[in-house]
Amino acid sequence: MSVRASAPGKAILLGEHAVVYGLPAIAIPLSGIRAKATAYASADALAIVAEDLTRPPLKIVSGESEPADPLALMASLTAKYLGLANINGEVRIQSDIPIASGLGSGAAVSAALGRAIAQLYDVDIPDADLNQLVFEVEKLHHGAPSGIDNTVVVYEMPVYFIKDAACDFIDIDKPLSILLADTGIASLTRDVVADVRSLAHSAPTHTGHVFAEIGAIVNEARDCIGRGATTRLGALMTANHRLLQSLSVSSPELDLLVDAALKAGAIGAKLSGGGRGGCVIALVDEDTVYRVKHSLIEAGAKRVMATVAG
Ligand code: PMV
Repeated sequence: MSVRASAPGKAILLGEHAVVYGLPAIAIPLSGIRAKATAYASADALAIVAEDLTRPPLKIVSGESEPADPLALMASLTAKYLGLANINGEVRIQSDIPIASGLGSGAAVSAALGRAIAQLYDVDIPDADLNQLVFEVEKLHHGAPSGIDNTVVVYEMPVYFIKDAACDFIDIDKPLSILLADTGIASLTRDVVADVRSLAHSAPTHTGHVFAEIGAIVNEARDCIGRGATTRLGALMTANHRLLQSLSVSSPELDLLVDAALKAGAIGAKLSGGGRGGCVIALVDEDTVYRVKHSLIEAGAKRVMATVAG
């Protein structure tokens, strides 16, 4: 017997970093790129084979592995949730989500793994419960995460997110055409978040103003999404990027991609996620999408993914 489960990647449209300090952010699921888990029943202790996450393939046998390993932690949290001392079976994980690119790979793998293990035992974990489990694992990846990644990945809905507040999902009436350009530079969100924390201690007035401005941008952007005001939404995204630059979380490579997208006619562009590497998100329209994509590749993007939100 085998069961399959999956979870999408995600992109932060606006509000990263400030969201750690209680300001709102907006994130969208990337349903076209996914982490997938296939679980097979067996009498043996659980083994997890994550073929494209590590090389050589990682095999975790429950009870033998480090609890500090995210896959082992997710498996043991799921076992505890199911009220089981041991889990049997094998789970094979595949993911098309680039790692350490701000696209939610860690949260998606955790969510797919938890769902697959539970399904082996005939349980569909409710999203609210899975969200809590994945959040625990996100703490390993991110230190003190806001919780936005696990929320958008588990519920697979666009979300207006405020830390510790109830989930507020948003309807996108007029679909948003988006390009995600990967710098190919892996960056650890945990390190960048720690640097912003140092800045918040050393320059509290500056960071306080920047966070407040980002919060105002996110609130206006939500309104724009609600009424299909795409041009203004794009301008807000670009303004958000300038504010992220002033928190020193951008990089020359990210700035180059943002400028290339804007010069080629993108409606707006900014870094997405932790920064210093990872991806740029650009809002485009039908007329400019190919020109912007080409320009991003010319400017050094290692890959460009097109998606539609809403
Ligand atoms: O996982 P990333 O790189 O998309 O970053 C998450 C967004 C941050 O605001 C930088 C951190 C957080 O926990 O919200």
